[in-house]
Amino acid sequence: MKIAVGSDHGGFELKQQVVEFLSKAGYEVESVGCFDLASVDYPDFAEKVCALVKSGACERGILICGTGIGMSIAANRHRDIRAALCHEAFTARMSREHNNANVLCLGARVIGPELALEIVRTWVVAEFVGGRHQRRLDILS
Ligand code: RB5
Repeated sequence: MKIAVGSDHGGFELKQQVVEFLSKAGYEVESVGCFDLASVDYPDFAEKVCALVKSGACERGILICGTGIGMSIAANRHRDIRAALCHEAFTARMSREHNNANVLCLGARVIGPELALEIVRTWVVAEFVGGRHQRRLDILS
């Protein structure tokens, strides 16, 4: 699975850890930036990750900012993007099983790196269960 990963400056350090974690776990990762701690605008990086997911170039995306809120607002403006802001593993798993979330948002100033990586680990392997949940997604589209 190829995963696009992006952050603003608030999420930069955690993004680097997420990229390393996913790469070591055998996933193909495309980091769209940012690439240092200089102040940037989160919508620009949400746009890049969502474009890769919508085009099919990447199957999923992960977006990280300080709270995760700006990234989730920006990502969910896109038709066909279902972005889930998760700060623990249960909602991360449910966002895949029930909501077929194709983008995970994290708040680097809200949770520590160990919890963040546990969430990522859970989210990348969880699968959409379909059925009545697909019917609900159809209503949204
Ligand atoms: C940047 O200071 C901060 O506003 C951003 O990372 C994010 O938390 C926005 O939602």
